[in-house]
Amino acid sequence: MANVIVIGAQWGDEGKGKITDLLSRSADVVVRPQGGVNAGHTIVVKGQTFKLHLIPSGILYPETECIIGSGTVIDPQILLEEMDQLAALNVSVERLYISQTAHVTMPYHRLLDQASEEKRGEHKIGTTGRGIGPTYADKSERTGIRVVDLMEPETLEKKLAWTINNKNVILDKLYELPPLDVEAVMADYLAYAERLRPHVVDSSLKIYEAIKARKNILFEGAQGTLLDLDHGTYPYVTSSNPIAGGACVGAGIGPTMIDRVIGVAKAYTTRVGEGPFPTELIGALNQHLCDRGAEFGTTTGRRRRCGWFDGVIGRYAVRINGLDCLAITKLDVLDELEEIKVCVAYELDGATCDHFPGNAAQFARCRPLYETLPGWQRSTAHCRTLEDLPQKALDYLKFLAELMEVPIAIVSLGASRDQTIIVEDPIHGPKRALLDATGLPVET
Ligand code: GDP
Ligand code: IMO
Ligand code: MG
Repeated sequence: MANVIVIGAQWGDEGKGKITDLLSRSADVVVRPQGGVNAGHTIVVKGQTFKLHLIPSGILYPETECIIGSGTVIDPQILLEEMDQLAALNVSVERLYISQTAHVTMPYHRLLDQASEEKRGEHKIGTTGRGIGPTYADKSERTGIRVVDLMEPETLEKKLAWTINNKNVILDKLYELPPLDVEAVMADYLAYAERLRPHVVDSSLKIYEAIKARKNILFEGAQGTLLDLDHGTYPYVTSSNPIAGGACVGAGIGPTMIDRVIGVAKAYTTRVGEGPFPTELIGALNQHLCDRGAEFGTTTGRRRRCGWFDGVIGRYAVRINGLDCLAITKLDVLDELEEIKVCVAYELDGATCDHFPGNAAQFARCRPLYETLPGWQRSTAHCRTLEDLPQKALDYLKFLAELMEVPIAIVSLGASRDQTIIVEDPIHGPKRALLDATGLPVET
């Protein structure tokens, strides 16, 4: 048994949903520790596509319990829509549990997110407009509404009347928007509360009990390392902590209970929204990666910016998350390319820089230094073992593993569950025992 954190090692959309779903076959419990409906995790099973925003990607397995943890922010309207969509596809949501201490996204959060983005103009962050920042801001300011408040109409009414009066002043004076009606919001949220009530639990306790019962628990990160509020490309980040440490905080468990951390990274890089991106490509190559990788946001439909793999970011993700191993996704997207570049260091103000500079202004000035590898120019979509891969694809993977000094446990070659090479199962495999630093199995 093992408790495993699945983390995005880049700027989100690395394929965490696919990898979590894949590993969930061995998991008893899957927990979403942070983030909200800004996340969009896509899972493809037998040709059917599921797009999940808040519900953990373990939900497709009939026995697996799924917990939306305390560190998340919950938009009940979207959560209920998601539950209904799954139910319509005959996926039971009976095993879905929601933390009583998670914060709730209210209509004013969405309005304020969108209005403040508009006001920022060219300095906008490029948020998903789902009210994530304002919900976490209220949590920090200690004026937020939590799931437990939703469950108590009297508390909710008192809190809402006070908060909406304050928010209406801001909506009016700062953004010239019409006020919200307390009673209308109250009525909507009480209706949501009644539907969610059977799912509400003390999530930290429930996870702890599962740990004590020696169950396998997966923690499904949302967003990615470089979107982390503290350690990402601030201010172009989200408002939670998607890094591995954040999973413990969000789930309400201690770090000693984690056995492994697996980082998910695309074989290239994408970013959606604004902010610096040293390996970003323009022109035909960007277009090729975007088309071939279907790089359009799951949540907003926005086109993702595409670029080469950034090894500096990769090494940073290994450090910040304490990664044990990697899942490299979308290798197939590179199949047609004649040559592939990997950023191995930056040029910063005339000097070589081989680490991620925490200083945002410096990061924006970093220029990538590349090594060029030959492409394999053969389809990899049908490969199921490392031996099936063209030698040059294997060399590319080795190069990435050596650059990041962490083994590759999983290689993904398509959106479906079966389009995967499992070099080493992070749940069942002995930690690092079968892998050398190149990510390939050690001769035994
Ligand atoms: P997440 O937010 O990290 O879960 O990632 P998203 O679901 O937002 O984006 C990843 C996209 O790539 C989804 O559309 C997946 O179906 C798709 N995908 C995942 N793994 C692979 C892969 O190995 N190859 C290809 N071609 N697509 C993949
Ligand atoms: P998953 O879990 C990619 C980005 C937004 C924006 C910034 C802040 O699918 O990988 P927010 O709405 O969170 O305040 O937006 O963060 N962002 C994501 N980018 N994948 C995500 O989630 C993201 N969640 C937020 O595009 O740049
Ligand atoms: Mg996504």
